[in-house]
Amino acid sequence: MGDIILSQGKSARRTVFVLNGPNLNLLGMREPEIYGSETLDDIAGRLEDQAHELDLDVDIRQSNHEGHLVDWLHEAAADEALAVILNAGALTHTSIALHDAILAINVPVIEVHLSNPAAREDFRHNSFIAPVAKGTICGFGALGYQLALDAAQKF
Ligand code: DQA
Repeated sequence: MGDIILSQGKSARRTVFVLNGPNLNLLGMREPEIYGSETLDDIAGRLEDQAHELDLDVDIRQSNHEGHLVDWLHEAAADEALAVILNAGALTHTSIALHDAILAINVPVIEVHLSNPAAREDFRHNSFIAPVAKGTICGFGALGYQLALDAAQKF
């Protein structure tokens, strides 16, 4: 008789990865007139509450290093995450590595920005994430993360 595997240690709940790129650890003190006065911890706390209500898990991370974000995108795929919410910070405008990582995984990625990059300097107008993202939410401050989680639960 073969063994019956009822669970492989994964919770039945689906996980949404929330990945944040360079300088987003400084939210709250970094250019608050553009990015708001809330810290990443404040945003994370609200997302955890919202995830609980939606019966989802959230895995919220921040790194100033491009390769960490690439590794975490791969990890999201390996973990069969429901979705990734990605604010890649300035890497949005430069990173072909993140573009390729999103193409390489079969997890939908929602691009989020606190500000509206299209209304800012020219160098912020190109996104290497947007063409490979399921969608983009920007310009609504910290609320953008909540809107993205709301969208993800419908995937
Ligand atoms: C940002 C917008 C980017 O242009 C900028 O480099 C950031 C933050 C945002 O959330 O508005 O670091 O991603």
